[in-house]
Amino acid sequence: MIDYAVDADGIATITWNMADRSMNVLNDQSIPAFAEKVAAAIADKAVKGVIVTSAKPDFIAGADLAMLQQVRDAAGMFERGNAMRRMLRDIEKAGKPFVAAINGTALGGGYEICLACHHRIAADNPKAQIGLPEVLVGLLPGGGGTQRLPRMIGIQKALPLLLEGKKLAPQAALQMGLVDKVVPPDRLLAEARRWLVEEGAKNLVKPWDQRGFRIPGGNPHAPATAPVFVAGNAMLRERTFGNYPAPLAIMACVYEGCLVDIDTGLKIEARHFVRLCTTPEAKNMIRTLFFSMGEANKLAHRPKDVPVQKYSRVGILGAGMMGAGIAHVTAQAGIEVVLLDTSLEQAEKGKAYSQGLLDRRVQQKRTSPEERDELLARIRPTTDFADLAGCELVIEAVFEDRAIKADVTRRAEAVLAPTAIFASNTSTLPISGLAEASARPENFIGLHFFSPVERMQLVEIIRGRQTSDATLARAMDYVKKIRKTPIVVNDSRGFYTSRVFGTYVSEGLAMLGEGVAPALIENAGRMAGMPVGPLALADEVSLELMHRVRRQTMKDLGDAYRPAPGDRVLELMVEKGRIGKKAAKGFYEYPAGDKKRLWPGLAELFPLAGEQPAVAEVIERLMYVQSVETARCIEEKVVTDPREADVGSVLGWGFAPARGGTVSQIHSVGLASFIAGCERLAQKHGGRFAPPKLLREMAARGESFYAI
Ligand code: NAI
Repeated sequence: MIDYAVDADGIATITWNMADRSMNVLNDQSIPAFAEKVAAAIADKAVKGVIVTSAKPDFIAGADLAMLQQVRDAAGMFERGNAMRRMLRDIEKAGKPFVAAINGTALGGGYEICLACHHRIAADNPKAQIGLPEVLVGLLPGGGGTQRLPRMIGIQKALPLLLEGKKLAPQAALQMGLVDKVVPPDRLLAEARRWLVEEGAKNLVKPWDQRGFRIPGGNPHAPATAPVFVAGNAMLRERTFGNYPAPLAIMACVYEGCLVDIDTGLKIEARHFVRLCTTPEAKNMIRTLFFSMGEANKLAHRPKDVPVQKYSRVGILGAGMMGAGIAHVTAQAGIEVVLLDTSLEQAEKGKAYSQGLLDRRVQQKRTSPEERDELLARIRPTTDFADLAGCELVIEAVFEDRAIKADVTRRAEAVLAPTAIFASNTSTLPISGLAEASARPENFIGLHFFSPVERMQLVEIIRGRQTSDATLARAMDYVKKIRKTPIVVNDSRGFYTSRVFGTYVSEGLAMLGEGVAPALIENAGRMAGMPVGPLALADEVSLELMHRVRRQTMKDLGDAYRPAPGDRVLELMVEKGRIGKKAAKGFYEYPAGDKKRLWPGLAELFPLAGEQPAVAEVIERLMYVQSVETARCIEEKVVTDPREADVGSVLGWGFAPARGGTVSQIHSVGLASFIAGCERLAQKHGGRFAPPKLLREMAARGESFYAI
């Protein structure tokens, strides 16, 4: 697991090399094994200096999150962490120099080992990432990161890195002072050795162990740093509404810890760390953003035995907002794109969208002009269906109209190879129905992208009644190729994401209709951790579109249509011509050059009720309605894996990440109390809150969605 060798010159090399894993991680096996080698190197008088490095392509990926997710006992965890803390202090005070030879990615605990070393040299590997990203999964760097980094580079530079969890390439890490030197990969070990021999002896005492040490830029009370905490706290509150304990704890660690000596500071950090480990927020974020998303990206549900599909050419029908975005991300993945619209001008306009995105990147020096030109050369605008010949996949993103979609399906299939697959990006029309236009319904599937395509990570893959396993597997291969995260759902009205996301918006509309103050509704949404309030979202989506979809649904379902609670509000608003943001008139007004504000006319249209609900009650309604609808989706087998429901909700419509997603919310509230809450809400507000049988049965059997 950890190799150890001492050469004739007294240079010891400790090499991380965990046999059973693709990446080195810190866990209950590797930490003691590493500590043992560190102790041996310190004890051995013949050893003059020590290199810490890795035999794998990367250095150390960080702590084993599976281990941290299981922590329930903060006191026990504190004890376990002592050994690691002591070991890192032993390195610092060894009386012989330690150098970190960072050959690849060094994150979290992996980088914290580097921080304890006396010198850090990184290989110039542009793929390597260096940093302390713990905050992104609800944790903080618990191996001294919040103490050593500010003491090394100053509080002002360290805090944003810790709070945003930024990962830097070696050159950027050098600029920020995270590493001391960057060298070509083949010179890494030689340079480490040279430093130990020539400079090691001069650098044996860490600055913070020297008398009179001062933090660069000053301690937390210094005039330059104190405002960082004051403004930082306020900004954090404004952005997160206190939903994330981790950034707050990081600020506390840096503030409290940097006023005292390093050993006391490390103890302070450890206390905050173990507390965070036991929070539901950390468990939720680790579960959904790390494990469940990892599974989705690995295509865990891809039907086996289907050879991996390579894509060389993809056709996109409709070069509007969605088609243009899909063309862009496809070309970005190195695939030729045939971009078809009804006029060449429209098709060219779709390509111009890519040009705009790329020009901006070139300006920001994030893409070279050559790369831009190569990417653009891969997009061929056309109006001729014959140009689709040779495409392995065609995705239609034409108007949301059954007849038009059927027409383009037939015309595309006429020139495609029988093995090619055809995907619809429809947001509302059931896939099995659209597949009726296809001569090969087994090759027909839904690929539901989100807007703006280049920024939204999720693709919801919809399996129609006749979609074959091979088609599903090949569609998943495409999503992976364009580096997005797929979830797979079965066909149903609104699929999973639109259906559940719609309940959030409708609940907001319903409350408005009941006389709840619009500002209360909007603030409650944001306080719950949603990116925007439900009324603002309705404006973004466009009330007109929601109205149109509702009409279509009524027509399709006939007597089976169940009115949504916000239907009347929608009707009234559309009647008044307040159709949303694109008309600059919706629940909000959008004064030119100013921030949007709630439309004062709402007061007349929806008079306030005499008694207003507590904010907690509004939050509960807005959030529970999404989870209970998700449970229905699982019961109806629209969603087959709770982890995908979680990932889809967080990536698809920004469901509060600290709650871990729609299913994790049920799990962390506890199944029994979630059911009780739903029953209470159902009694007061209607059957849409009634807990489905699935939940009751699970509770009766003592089951839960997740083990941890
Ligand atoms: P859009 O109106 O911006 O673009 C549609 C494009 O299709 C236009 O450029 C139009 O000229 C072209 N078109 C129409 N008939 C055609 C035909 N017979 N042959 C070739 N091209 C034709 O619409 P948008 O927003 O891009 O939506 C497209 C599809 O994506 C719709 O099915 C929509 O429901 C779906 N969708 C939209 C999302 C959104 O946020 N706007 C999100 C996810 C899916």
